[in-house]
Amino acid sequence: MKSGHHRLKYHKGRFRSKTKRVKVIERYMRAAFRKMEMSKEVTSAHHFGHVSRVSLYAGKLVNFMGGQKKLQYLARISGYSHDRIRDPTELVSHEERSASYMRELLKKRYEKKPMKIIYEASRRHGELPALSEVGKNIVRDSIVFADKFFEANGAYIAFRRAMFMGERVDRRKQAEGKGWDLKKPEDIRKAAIEFTKDESVKRIKAFSDLSKIPEFMHPFVKYQVEWQKRLLSGLEKGEPGMINLVTTLYTEGLKEKPRQLDPVIKEYKPIAKEDAKFKKEAIDYLDGKLFTKFEELCGKKLRR
Ligand SMILES: [Fe+2]
Ligand SMILES: [Fe+2]
Repeated sequence: MKSGHHRLKYHKGRFRSKTKRVKVIERYMRAAFRKMEMSKEVTSAHHFGHVSRVSLYAGKLVNFMGGQKKLQYLARISGYSHDRIRDPTELVSHEERSASYMRELLKKRYEKKPMKIIYEASRRHGELPALSEVGKNIVRDSIVFADKFFEANGAYIAFRRAMFMGERVDRRKQAEGKGWDLKKPEDIRKAAIEFTKDESVKRIKAFSDLSKIPEFMHPFVKYQVEWQKRLLSGLEKGEPGMINLVTTLYTEGLKEKPRQLDPVIKEYKPIAKEDAKFKKEAIDYLDGKLFTKFEELCGKKLRR
């Protein structure tokens, strides 16, 4: 009786300490992004909201794939830290740099094995694991899947992509090359539509090859890509809602000091049915609710 009581306390203590470790990284990354914001390293594609959602959804994915609690914590930690460093030149990949940087910070506090898992998840988050590798490091798998299928997809990406097109220096030069004056509303609208379409075509193509994606994720990936297709066809057909959405977000991205993407989405005022649907879905995603949809589409737990 007595030892059972002790054991319970011990487990409680362990549980608290792991939760605390996630909290410590969360706080650290929040501060790191605040600093990066001042030196203008933060964009709509790379900001605190991004890493915190990768962390959240990766943790849920590990659970879904049958990973134990301790792996879920490692996924939460890797999710927060996977994009710690963004080097615009990318001479050394940001994956590699973030992984090494975080290892230096964490190695004194983490044992070898969990440290290796965090490091590998971060270092190899840039590309999908080969199908034969899936399951070998589910922390890494879950970071990649959260980064690509949740964060770089779905209705949310319509907002993020349009805003990012405004932020990108190469796209501004491209607009200039086309003779567009990005101070004129008409030209802003043209650029917003053209660039968002252009980028969407590429991304839809990349996500449509399901042969490299684990089968259990196919229904969800298709669902997510469907939103991108709706975005593209809406723009092609000249749907007012879609045009308003991309133009509004692109305009934000063009600003000297763009606001944070998440509040911009929350404050977005739809003008038609279609953009209202995108907004609702994106907000559900921001609020962490997309995992319910994922489970509905992919079935119940894989193992356990
Ligand atoms: Fe990344
Ligand atoms: Fe990322």
